[in-house]
Amino acid sequence: MIASPETLLEIKNLYTAFVEPEGTLEALEDVSFKVLQGEFICLIGPSGCGKSTLLRTLAGLLPPSKGEVRLRGIPIRGPEHAVGLVFQQPTLLPWRTVAENIALPLELRGQPLAERQQRVAELLEMVGLAGFEATYPQLLSGGMAQRAAIARALAQNPEVLLLDEPFGSLDALTRERMAAALLELWQRQQRTVLMVTHSVDEAALLADRVVVLSPRPGRIIDIIPVRLPRPRDPSLLLDPRLQSVVRELRQALKNGELQGNGRNSQPKA
Ligand SMILES: Nc1ncnc2c1ncn2[C@@H]1O[C@H](COP(=O)(O)OP(=O)(O)O)[C@@H](O)[C@H]1O
Ligand SMILES: [Mg+2]
Repeated sequence: MIASPETLLEIKNLYTAFVEPEGTLEALEDVSFKVLQGEFICLIGPSGCGKSTLLRTLAGLLPPSKGEVRLRGIPIRGPEHAVGLVFQQPTLLPWRTVAENIALPLELRGQPLAERQQRVAELLEMVGLAGFEATYPQLLSGGMAQRAAIARALAQNPEVLLLDEPFGSLDALTRERMAAALLELWQRQQRTVLMVTHSVDEAALLADRVVVLSPRPGRIIDIIPVRLPRPRDPSLLLDPRLQSVVRELRQALKNGELQGNGRNSQPKA
């Protein structure tokens, strides 16, 4: 008998509100879904709908106002080694080289120097930065800095990798290359990935399932499965099956905008 994949993450009736002197801002409303071990989930939705809020909650950086998030059944109450987050803007330490940045989680864990160096070399190779170990972040292109940030998150050896629009600031070509690199990495390592993107093409190319959120406060409009064979690569972007998924995603986003009318019209104080 083949065991069915287990639930790794569970988001249950999650509400998040930010209470400010000028009033309460609702960011997420009753968001519930499960992520299976090894799944690649993409999260799409209009700007300001609470995507980053959701990732920060899963990373244990923001407590839910109501509801809960669980990792293997245990409520997430703070940052955990098992969950790695890559922010939208690569947050590398400017006074450390690429290799020293990537080594940081290993240092914090007290890994011996020789093992650390070997692991960093593997990670550099994996994200295509071999040869740049001694370079400082300010000399890297946006794409390279983002890859270094991904390598650092992987150094933590997380069970779940949370990526917040990791390719947001990159040009189209670099973006596609990064998507290809991420696909290859995921296909090799079978991590569980939850990635926010504003590109519906990217979501359809990468994901097993795409979670579509409404305008703020973010609610789930639909969860759309992408039934395309793996391994995948960017040449699939031209495939009619992928394009039909893209149309479905766009329609779901549009439905969300229509349903969202009047709900999110009050400005933030
Ligand atoms: N720490 C915070 N304090 C107050 N409001 C916040 C905070 N973080 C996010 N928000 C607000 O919550 C809403 C959702 O933000 P965010 O999750 O960043 O959206 P997205 O990532 O989908 O663009 C926005 O209106 C944003 O201004
Ligand atoms: Mg965001």
